[in-house]
Amino acid sequence: MTADLAPLLTRRSVSVRDMAAPAPSEDALALILRAATRVPDHGKLCPWRIVVLQEEGQRQLGQVAAGLFMKAYPDASSAQRNAELQRFMRAPLCLAVLSTPKPGSKPVWEQELSAGAVCMNILHAAHMLGYAGKWLTEWVAYDAEILAALGGAPSDKIAGFLYLGSKTSEPEDRERPSLEAVVEWR
Ligand SMILES: Cc1cc2nc3c(=O)[nH]c(=O)nc-3n(C[C@H](O)[C@H](O)[C@H](O)COP(=O)(O)O)c2cc1C
Repeated sequence: MTADLAPLLTRRSVSVRDMAAPAPSEDALALILRAATRVPDHGKLCPWRIVVLQEEGQRQLGQVAAGLFMKAYPDASSAQRNAELQRFMRAPLCLAVLSTPKPGSKPVWEQELSAGAVCMNILHAAHMLGYAGKWLTEWVAYDAEILAALGGAPSDKIAGFLYLGSKTSEPEDRERPSLEAVVEWR
């Protein structure tokens, strides 16, 4: 039992600063995407989309981010502009997960939770295949023009950017909540 659960009990986010090539291989990415889309989904609505940002996609979205950033902060330094240009290239691969709720009888909240499950499965699948992963939102997840650049409709949301790569060092675990603090028995 414990051995089977080891991946869930040992997963740890890896900072993008500690990620390097190689990205998940083509086969690994196919598995990660299959796991990502095997999530609970009330009404079988598939209320999510995944945009796989590879080199060119990462570069292009970085250009959009840098343009938006410079518009908002015209006095920003060239280092800040460069950081925006590089934002999506901080790891070898970046998956943008969009929550795309469908109108109808199923609550939007439930559809959004399903998109969160997609993100979580990506992290677990990557970890189980030996890759590093990090779920980040940052300002870009809350920007309407970034959403549009990813093909999202105004009613969609960016659930997260899942940065994937190989770890350059083993991350130290962080303190985890005690079960007593977060679990109530009745
Ligand atoms: C929806 C969501 C958005 C997040 N966005 C950020 C972020 O923008 N910046 C950040 O430093 N951590 C962010 N995190 C936290 C990290 O993904 C990660 O959970 C945290 O570093 C703890 O690491 P752990 O996964 O090993 O517990 C986010 C987490 C979630 C669930």
